[in-house]
Amino acid sequence: MNIIKTLPENLINQIAAGEVIERPSSALKELVENSIDAGATEIDIYITDGGKTLVEVVDNGKGMTVTDLKMCLQRHATSKIRDGDLVNINSLGFRGEALPSIGSIADISIDSHDKIKNESWKISINNNILQNIEPSIIRGGTKVTIRDLFSKVPARLKFLKTNGTEIRYCKEVVKHLAMSHPNISFSFHIDTKRNFYWDKSEGVNFLSTKKRLLQVMGDDFINSSVSVEEERSDMVLAGMVSMPTLNRNTGREQYLFVNNRPVKDRSLIGALRGAYKGLMENNRFPVAVLFLEIMPSDVDINVHPAKAEVRFKDAARVRSLIVNGVRKALENAGLNTASEISNALLNKMYLNSESTSDINNNFDLDNIQIFPSSRFEQNQQNVSFEKETTYPLGSAIAQTHGTYIISETENGIILIDQHAAHERIVLEKIRSGFLNNDMQKQILLIPEIVELPEERFEAIIRNVTSLSKLGLILEKFDQKAVLIREHPAILDKVNFSVLINDIADEIIQFGSEFILSERLDNICGNMACHSSIRAGRLLLNSEMNALLREMENTPNSSQCNHGRPTFIKLGIKDIEKLFGRT
Ligand SMILES: Nc1ncnc2c1ncn2[C@@H]1O[C@H](COP(=O)(O)OP(=O)(O)OP(=O)(O)O)[C@@H](O)[C@H]1O
Ligand SMILES: [Mg+2]
Repeated sequence: MNIIKTLPENLINQIAAGEVIERPSSALKELVENSIDAGATEIDIYITDGGKTLVEVVDNGKGMTVTDLKMCLQRHATSKIRDGDLVNINSLGFRGEALPSIGSIADISIDSHDKIKNESWKISINNNILQNIEPSIIRGGTKVTIRDLFSKVPARLKFLKTNGTEIRYCKEVVKHLAMSHPNISFSFHIDTKRNFYWDKSEGVNFLSTKKRLLQVMGDDFINSSVSVEEERSDMVLAGMVSMPTLNRNTGREQYLFVNNRPVKDRSLIGALRGAYKGLMENNRFPVAVLFLEIMPSDVDINVHPAKAEVRFKDAARVRSLIVNGVRKALENAGLNTASEISNALLNKMYLNSESTSDINNNFDLDNIQIFPSSRFEQNQQNVSFEKETTYPLGSAIAQTHGTYIISETENGIILIDQHAAHERIVLEKIRSGFLNNDMQKQILLIPEIVELPEERFEAIIRNVTSLSKLGLILEKFDQKAVLIREHPAILDKVNFSVLINDIADEIIQFGSEFILSERLDNICGNMACHSSIRAGRLLLNSEMNALLREMENTPNSSQCNHGRPTFIKLGIKDIEKLFGRT
């Protein structure tokens, strides 16, 4: 008896839908991609009940003839693949399965206009039954309406989230596609009310993309991010990434594109993470929009049902392009601290000043101690005080709470967290000393003995050679202690016991796979953290200015090793606003 049978068409479509259509936003993605492929310049989106009862997309694209309309709901029917070529695909779709899949799990109707014959037709599937084609009243383009998604697949329906969450997913899909298509206008309606409209620009170029990024991401991102441009002979990376001080607790705001196709590719996300190593704490995520252009033959886009992932022929080269490109952009931008923080601060100040009815209640000099530090005053006579306001970080005028330096620049003031700033300087010095093989070392007059528990002792002894490249010259003292003879000159008053124990932990965490160059930022970070000018230490005016000058010459100096900002700026214009002068 024959027990193997071909599945019925509708079941095949439902299986395909199971892979591609996970929630309303995935159906929406398919429709918007079709509109883009149809050359639309206006796309209007309507969502009801988080897309559960209605997802509708109206476009002004090239439309379909009545014959094509009849074909478009058939499985594996596509206008987008010519001569069986899966390599040179210029469209977002190519599988010819989105519409029939959706038709198997929801009611769908498609109205489309045939420009040549100047007539419009409508085709629909209701309750899994293909309806007769009928005349439509639309005047151009195509309108696709999906009703009651998953009503026939209750198991899926159960996994949908609240309307608010589903709407957020839908918006994410539109955001992602809109960023790479600034030449298309997008409107988005929630329960019949328009939620946003992004006007189109002419063409897809640097300016139009920048305008679209402003529409989609807002000015906080634009003001707190840097442009990335990195090129190899056969690939180009461009886009914008946030300064480390602008970060999120998920990677949701990382928009990546391969040949203008939105992807959520793990290898690319991993590369981005690698680029921020040492600049951001591990549980924080940068915001990024990155476009990778690569030869079509060097990437396979047909590896994921929803086309979200891709496979590169040479993944390591792509990774290095991203890590180097992003890193370079961040280093070049060195002194731009995130404006988001200054804005947040300003808002807070406005709030305070608005709520001040009696100024004496709020202006309590015990709380707001902004006056020159005593050491600054004592040393006034000896210091030839030259105003250095023309430097990017200006001239230090005071220290407050033994923790923050106040500096005056040509067009504002800067508040510097002395500990965070010093930590970054030390980290970058040790890192560059290691990479350039010119670590400045200092010999300890009396070598220091550090006792260690067995596991840590062994970890350190195994890595004596590696650590010597970092300027830490140590040797075995007895079976449970090491003798430290030299240390990097930049390290000042270090508690060696704590430092060596911390380094040992870092090594143990990576076991036999520990490779110094890969954990460099962490080890250097440990050293920096233990040696930096602690908060609470009073500084001479000359010391403060020396710190500022060093910051200006240090890569990535606008944030400490933990991704916190090292300084914030307040422009004179903002100060004037605060006092109601403008
Ligand atoms: N908005 C539209 N305007 C014009 N033609 C469309 C539109 N939507 C779909 N079509 C036509 O219907 C066909 C089938 O669409 P469908 O989304 O099912 O497959 P596809 O886009 O070719 O491939 P994929 O399954 O990868 O999306 C398309 O190839 C296209 O010719
Ligand atoms: Mg499609």
